[in-house]
Amino acid sequence: MPPGKPQERPSVGKPKCLNQKPKKPVIILLDVGFEDAQKLVSFARKKSHRNKRFMGVEWTKQENLRTRYHNLKLTYGDALSKLKRLPAASVKIITADFLFTEFKIGGKESSDFGWRRASVETAYEKQRVNVMKQVARVLLPNGRFIVTEYAENASITVRLLKDAGFEVYSVPLKESEVRGTKFMEMILDRLKKHPEEKREFWPIKITARKKGA
Ligand SMILES: C[S@@+](CC[C@H](N)C(=O)[O-])C[C@H]1O[C@@H](n2cnc3c(N)ncnc32)[C@H](O)[C@@H]1O
Repeated sequence: MPPGKPQERPSVGKPKCLNQKPKKPVIILLDVGFEDAQKLVSFARKKSHRNKRFMGVEWTKQENLRTRYHNLKLTYGDALSKLKRLPAASVKIITADFLFTEFKIGGKESSDFGWRRASVETAYEKQRVNVMKQVARVLLPNGRFIVTEYAENASITVRLLKDAGFEVYSVPLKESEVRGTKFMEMILDRLKKHPEEKREFWPIKITARKKGA
């Protein structure tokens, strides 16, 4: 051996495969904008779902809401940044009931901008599309993004989902489906009292499938 050159020693660390973190199981359902989390908690509590993984993302903190269950993790923060942290192809179904209707950037809705609303609308549209693109990234092949929207907003959301690369179809919810959360029940109550508003506010279920999956 030439003088001065230290002899290379074989690594004595753990074998590479033992250093790798075990892969987490896929998330079966991720709800974005869970508000009171009624839907997620009821799914996660089903006996047959005991060994499945659920997750939620919401901007607004809810008082006294338990955020950790053995199979459900509720997180607070911005939808786009939370989605960016998830690995690609790691979620089976993502739901967003009225997320895009009450969509926030930095905690503010576009309507908070009052007379300047029109000038910020493009930024809100872009951010919605960015969220949709992240959804496409984290969905498994054949995964679905299921979005509920008021009838009057459904066509815009369908257009943005198509722009984000999804194959999209939509149907009005059946009356028996307009339930399960406080928000849905509030809508149903309102529309029973004001049936003339059904054309604008009846909830539409939009199903978006990643193209080529
Ligand atoms: C109409 S509420 C959702 C109701 C709930 N999904 C249900 O059906 O009962 C919309 C929720 O989306 C949340 N939200 C809006 N923009 C968000 C964003 N960028 N990141 C995270 N949550 C957001 C709001 O804070 C709000 O709680």
